[in-house]
Amino acid sequence: MEELLNIIIKDISKTNNVAESIVYQDKEFYLFKSNSLDLLPQLPDNCIDMIFADPPYMLSNDGVTCYAGKMVSVNKGDWDKSSGFDSDFNFHQRWISECKRILKPEGTIWISGTYHSIYICGFILQKEAFHILNDITWYKPNAAPNLSRTVFAASHENLIWARKDKNSRHVFNYELMKSGSFNEDIFKNEKKQMRSVWAINSPKPSEKIFGKHPTQKPLDLLKRIIISSTKEKSIILDPFSGGGTTGIAAQEIGNRAYIGIEIEQEYIDLTVKRLKHLQKNFSLGYQV
Ligand SMILES: C[S@@+](CC[C@H](N)C(=O)[O-])C[C@H]1O[C@@H](n2cnc3c(N)ncnc32)[C@H](O)[C@@H]1O
Repeated sequence: MEELLNIIIKDISKTNNVAESIVYQDKEFYLFKSNSLDLLPQLPDNCIDMIFADPPYMLSNDGVTCYAGKMVSVNKGDWDKSSGFDSDFNFHQRWISECKRILKPEGTIWISGTYHSIYICGFILQKEAFHILNDITWYKPNAAPNLSRTVFAASHENLIWARKDKNSRHVFNYELMKSGSFNEDIFKNEKKQMRSVWAINSPKPSEKIFGKHPTQKPLDLLKRIIISSTKEKSIILDPFSGGGTTGIAAQEIGNRAYIGIEIEQEYIDLTVKRLKHLQKNFSLGYQV
């Protein structure tokens, strides 16, 4: 893992000033402040074991939603604004095809999204000849109510899990998913197979003590993803790292390298605070 990480970082440094783009590095945790469309093309072919991508949903177009019982704007930031269907499609096409190139043949990608983006991403995965393994429904038992009373209350997101090469063998830690402890998940029966509908609440208050990212994913979701689909020494990449949930989950599990790419300094700072706090307080939980 260390050797491969060195190759990856050296490759980036050929075309980029590494000192400028790596904004944080601690052992196997690398954070790049960059546009993924610029940085992904600098990574070597076939070098990443697993990618988790939570791309912009492109839904910040001045609508309203309900938060803590109040009507609030849906706007998350300029990075989440749609530039029209063709432009959004082109954006997703560019990063997904780079992800295909950098994944190892047996490597897998997870993409999360709502209907605003997930069908586009699913279409592109098929166009790029990924082999789709599962689509997971992540049900949020504590989702906010719908204020308009004209549609159903949105209470889930989708996750697509796909392998780069149909003929390779991917990692799936079947037994850990079947026998692990998932007490809060109302759909998981003890010692029965893990199904494709997961009930996980939004991030706990303890995950927001340094502030929160507007679309921060719960650690329980990312831990489940990483435990199920990686092994020790895996290199995990998140091209839209946000508040760093994927990296923090990888650190909690242990023995995995993390490469996060994020365009906004504010979220890089949040990630570093979360990581330092974890390093101070956490004793390793899972060993896969
Ligand atoms: C949906 S959020 C990810 C949230 C993350 N999963 C978490 O749990 O905190 C998407 C993130 O991608 C970042 N972003 C948007 N466009 C980007 C790009 N082209 N390159 C890198 N980061 C980008 C945004 O700043 C935002 O933080």
